[in-house]
Amino acid sequence: VLMTVSLLAACGKKNDDNADGKKVFTVGIDAEYPPFSYLGDDGSYTGFDIEVAQAACDLLGWEMKVFPVNWDQKLTQLDAKECDCIWSGMTILDSMKEAGYTLSAPYYDNTQVIMVKEGSDIKSSADLAGKVVAVQLGTSGDTLLSEGGDLESLTATFKSLIRSDSFLKCFTELSGGAVDAVIVDKPVATAYADKNAGFTILSEELGAEQYGIAFRADDKELCASIEGAVKTLVDNGTYAKIAEKYPDI
Ligand code: ARG
Repeated sequence: VLMTVSLLAACGKKNDDNADGKKVFTVGIDAEYPPFSYLGDDGSYTGFDIEVAQAACDLLGWEMKVFPVNWDQKLTQLDAKECDCIWSGMTILDSMKEAGYTLSAPYYDNTQVIMVKEGSDIKSSADLAGKVVAVQLGTSGDTLLSEGGDLESLTATFKSLIRSDSFLKCFTELSGGAVDAVIVDKPVATAYADKNAGFTILSEELGAEQYGIAFRADDKELCASIEGAVKTLVDNGTYAKIAEKYPDI
């Protein structure tokens, strides 16, 4: 072991390089967030964000690793260097800017929608009064509905707000009847409803927001490298080709 350490030191290798001296870039994702990031049928992580991140790393000559985070703890895990960025359908929140995180340019315009069971009597947010509503803990939807959020007064009309650690659980409970409505990102609701029968997405849109990639405060250069690579992927058509595989986005 000692031998290896001194050899590495002699080569001037940093511990974030792999055995071939390639930079290792670890992307923090939510493993249950189709179509942006999820475990594919072949047992490896895939999704729109993961494919773009992989293509960017290929371009930069970096080795990409995927690290599944706990969404509610993602920034703490980023601070602890368990990953180098959060890139997983992540909404840019003002609180992230205030906390000094390095944020990429926005790459996706998102809205929050209401998903209900087919045939539900809920037709708009006004009908959520007296209902059980679910949201994923630590998400922008949660921020919107919780104390101090823009829709706090709407939440006050609910029978209850269930803050779950996974969207898939919210959808399962909606299907089972324990929950009357789920507030969720539009492309995620659309992708789920396309694959699973029996759901309706209301046309009303609740909050407009943008997705971006978050890095630690002192990783501005890293962010610029990734942004540069993504720009190349946009310019050479790779980005559009990846997007074609995900029609719900
Ligand atoms: N876009 C919302 C947010 O950033 C929901 C994200 C939920 N989970 C995820 N893996 N993207 O808070």
